[in-house]
Amino acid sequence: MGAHHTTVGIIGGGPAGLLLARLLHRSGIDCAVLESRDRGYVEQRQRAGILEQGTADVLRACGAGERLDREGLVHDGIELRYDRRAHRLDLPALTGGRRVTVYAQTEIVKDLIALQLDSGPPLLFGARALAVTGADTASPRIHYRHEGREHTLSCDYVVGCDGFHGITRSAVPERERRTYERRYPYSWLGVLADAPPSSDELIYAHSARGFALFSMRSPAVSRLYLQVPNGTDPADWPDDRIWDELEARGAVDGPWQLVRGPITAKSVVPMRSSVTEPMRHGRILLAGDAAHIVPPTGAKGLNLAVADVTVLARALEHLHRTGSAELLDAYSATCLRRVWRAEHFSYFMTTTLHAPEGRPSFETRLQRSQLDRIATSRHAAAELAENYAGMPLR
Ligand code: APR
Ligand code: PHB
Repeated sequence: MGAHHTTVGIIGGGPAGLLLARLLHRSGIDCAVLESRDRGYVEQRQRAGILEQGTADVLRACGAGERLDREGLVHDGIELRYDRRAHRLDLPALTGGRRVTVYAQTEIVKDLIALQLDSGPPLLFGARALAVTGADTASPRIHYRHEGREHTLSCDYVVGCDGFHGITRSAVPERERRTYERRYPYSWLGVLADAPPSSDELIYAHSARGFALFSMRSPAVSRLYLQVPNGTDPADWPDDRIWDELEARGAVDGPWQLVRGPITAKSVVPMRSSVTEPMRHGRILLAGDAAHIVPPTGAKGLNLAVADVTVLARALEHLHRTGSAELLDAYSATCLRRVWRAEHFSYFMTTTLHAPEGRPSFETRLQRSQLDRIATSRHAAAELAENYAGMPLR
């Protein structure tokens, strides 16, 4: 990277960092992205796949929606399945017209990287940020290593888009930082399979055996998840065991066939909620997983990252155009309102759908009551649908 100064230094080339760079670049604001991994790694990392209406709109508006519109699967509904019964939630009917799009995070990352490498701003792979200094000065610095040499990038602002395991969060002094956390007593075994999805829409299945999610990546590729105990080794789950368990947990009275096929990827992820407040300290800002994570049940992680950087890009553009820091000063509070709504929804979906350890308990009876309420009350169904399809970004 030639220049050793940029207006906005972005640490992390995941969805948050890449989209922020795209939005700032289109506003004529200099920025640069430092990504520790190589291109192949970040493009293949299996993550989320459900885009809220607002997320799809932002991607289209910044010129990253062409393949999304061609290959994305627009869904009008999701299914809740429990006690062998299926209950479909009609998203546009319950939300006044909002729907979701199935389009893998890997594809968004590929689209944004291709655009950035083609028309800027600078994107450096293999560039690991080691430290951020000068948060309380007018020129914070990112110290990073690239191709065996250490460099310093001075910035007007530094944005940590470096995920939950990044370094930027710790650049906010501990005395200024508050972290709120919850861990869950289960994880997700996630698999990719070369098998056509067993349904046109996603199925969230609650069963005494544990939660199962039937999602997809295309008409030929299924994305499937099973609730498993923390510490589960994917090697203990051969393909047949996975398919048998998915079939058992998704069992329903009525026609439904789970088509099997070769499993091409398998991993176990723990479930965790975490929010760090505030999302800013001086000229250092946090966005996406660097500031907050959610259990994946509500499909909010990617959409929250998009919402954060949309708010931040607007604030930096406002400062650039008018000299007013008004929107920037409101960044953290603005984002945290949406973050806590998504944290609550993700917690609700997770604790309602995942089987508690051991014998049926008070909690399992509460879960049944909540599921019956959603299945029989339009108000309860609408509350879930509004959160799932996402609150409008403005
Ligand atoms: N220096 C440079 N890059 C770093 C550093 C570092 N010190 N530490 C982490 N990174 C990079 C990671 O390699 C990763 O590519 O930062 C990026 C962070 O990307 P994500 O973890 O995907 O976070 P974010 O962009 O906020 O997107 C959130 O990703 O984890 C999922 O479920 C989450 O869907 C949500 C989305
Ligand atoms: C996915 O397709 O990866 C996915 C879909 C819905 C969720 C979580 C993950 O709630």
